[in-house]
Amino acid sequence: MTKILLNRVQYLPSSFIKLSFCRAPKSLPILQIKNKEYQADEISNVTPKILSYLNRNLHLQKDHPLSKVRQRIVNYFYSSFTHRGNPAFSVYDNLSPVVSTKQNFDDLLIPEDHPSRAKSDCYYVNSTTLLRAHMTAHQSELLKAGLENFLMIGDVYRRDEIDSTHFPVFHQVDAVRSQRKEHLFENHPGLEIFETTFDPETPHLCQNNIIDPVKQSCHTLEATKLMEAQLKNHLVGLVKVLFGDEIQHRWVEAYFPFTHPSWEMEIFYENKWMEVLGCGIVRNEILAASGPNNSIAYAFGIGLERIAMALYKIPDIRLMWSNDSGFLTQFQNKDLNANITYKPVSVYPQCTNDLSFWLPSTLTVDTFMSNDFYDLVRDIGGDVIEQVKLKDKFVHPKTKKQSLCYSIVYRHLERTLTQAEVNKIHKDIERAAQQVFGVQIR
Ligand code: PHE
Repeated sequence: MTKILLNRVQYLPSSFIKLSFCRAPKSLPILQIKNKEYQADEISNVTPKILSYLNRNLHLQKDHPLSKVRQRIVNYFYSSFTHRGNPAFSVYDNLSPVVSTKQNFDDLLIPEDHPSRAKSDCYYVNSTTLLRAHMTAHQSELLKAGLENFLMIGDVYRRDEIDSTHFPVFHQVDAVRSQRKEHLFENHPGLEIFETTFDPETPHLCQNNIIDPVKQSCHTLEATKLMEAQLKNHLVGLVKVLFGDEIQHRWVEAYFPFTHPSWEMEIFYENKWMEVLGCGIVRNEILAASGPNNSIAYAFGIGLERIAMALYKIPDIRLMWSNDSGFLTQFQNKDLNANITYKPVSVYPQCTNDLSFWLPSTLTVDTFMSNDFYDLVRDIGGDVIEQVKLKDKFVHPKTKKQSLCYSIVYRHLERTLTQAEVNKIHKDIERAAQQVFGVQIR
């Protein structure tokens, strides 16, 4: 993996990150990200291409569809909850995406062996630092700062396949809403948030558990159900504001290590159920570790791309990253709540080339990491890569040599690519694959 990073760095210098090879032991580079230096180690897998997305801040770019959706969601929360005439939620939309593994995982009770920590799924800067994989990574620090109701909005990074709905960077709005007994049970002063067997003053002395699917053992059924009702009502209100009163939704039971119980909401869009958010009651261990030990909270996380793509009928997630005026002007000088339907400027043809290679004897068709290959393809091809599909796995019956074949679909969003141009990129990818993975092109 180290080799991959070094190789990539060599063939892809980027003006945004500065790498110096001289100071690091074992010639592992020092990564400079947003004016801070990080020593790369054997876990590092972030690429210059991915780091180049860090300063784009699409969610804050005026008139960008993601920024419009962000603003509509924030307005909904501002107008739904006020405290003495002021918005009850504070908004954090400029937190650095470079976080610690403690913030992204440990503070959220994500177990050491949880698959979401895998190197094949995250962009690690080094073994203790990564590009946040979700906005929930900031939940504990904001709770520790004494906040009770807040929104965290920003870009998140996950290694994934390549197609029209997946991109390694996307945006989320995450929220926490906490309530104390006096507030939650304003009209029912006889009711409690915590079971009498649980003392919130000394949470470490009483075990909380999630054996019961309906609630955490520390919470009363009344508090959990009232929070669940408010949470669901709040989110149904949001999708109605965004998509209109007719939008159909359904709740699906879910599991997140940091909430219990947990749900996902799906909306019925273009004849399919589409998941738009995850939510639940915050695990009391998190609240207790971060300060407030007398409240109950709910949390949720919403993906902005899916909502923007559905609202504005944007057919390809890569368009979000387009600097082309043909895309951006369609969202300019329009009322925030106006109905906008994206019109493709024109559709340019795609071009598919296959790439087959023999694996080195150290790898098998099952141990070769497709996500590593996808990142390499994206590094070389950039945004003209529309899709990469694994087409075939082959083991030679006699020699037992193993080979893989990927189809790479090329398409420029703003013009027609020539075959010669595509062939050149394809050759570069072949060369890089040989160099980085030691494969032999067939
Ligand atoms: N962080 C979760 C995700 O990225 C979403 C979530 C946020 C779920 C808060 C529950 C509570 O999928």
